Amino acid sequence: MRERNPVDQYLYITILMNTKNTFIVLEGVEGSGKSTQSQVLSQKLSSEGISNLLVREPGSTNTGEKIRALILEGCELNPLTELFLFSAARSELIQNEIIPALDSNTVVVCDRYIYSSFAYQGYAKGLNLDTVAKVNSIATSHISPDLVFLLDINPEVSFKRTKANPRDRFEKESISFHNSVRKGYLCLAESSQNTWHIIDAEKPSEIISEIIWQKVITLLT
Ligand code: TYD
Repeated sequence: MRERNPVDQYLYITILMNTKNTFIVLEGVEGSGKSTQSQVLSQKLSSEGISNLLVREPGSTNTGEKIRALILEGCELNPLTELFLFSAARSELIQNEIIPALDSNTVVVCDRYIYSSFAYQGYAKGLNLDTVAKVNSIATSHISPDLVFLLDINPEVSFKRTKANPRDRFEKESISFHNSVRKGYLCLAESSQNTWHIIDAEKPSEIISEIIWQKVITLLT
């Protein structure tokens, strides 16, 4: 941990006193860079001595990782089955990792959350948004994040980063599918402007990290 001058030290103690229940989510289409940014944020928090937990969806629990393999590597599933499977993995994550972390003043950084289900299974695959909301309110015990960062990018651009080597069923979907995902995210961000921050994901990675860091620090102080 680095040495701090008295002003920084005061700020640091204020941050430690305010970290309770801080839950941060990063969302975006494939290749938007949110997994990298989640890792950078977690590392920055750690380097400031702020206890944090980095998790990804689907996964980050034993059962969640098995469900992840089933969804991503398995055969085509209908959207409702997908919704239940993603929500089951999410329920494991919420009960076993996220709630205990928040209860012990640990900042949670989550790479994808319920908004992925709205964007992918709802907006892009056509499931009723009320259905997505109902299933997720049960799966998450209504736990919502304090901040959501949307790394917004045109899929045509982001796919230059991933499409050369698609790793799973979702990455093989068409550009128009991913355009619907992007539009879905933008609608979600529009309706919750207090919590959501849209970031242009074509900006250089260090600039994006700094934008995220400034918002997080503002929330924590
Ligand atoms: P992943 O390899 O983690 O993608 P990324 O690195 O872009 O996060 O695969 C997760 C895939 O699952 C991704 O294509 C989005 C999709 N997904 C849904 O369709 N619904 C969901 O609720 C979640 C969490 C993910």
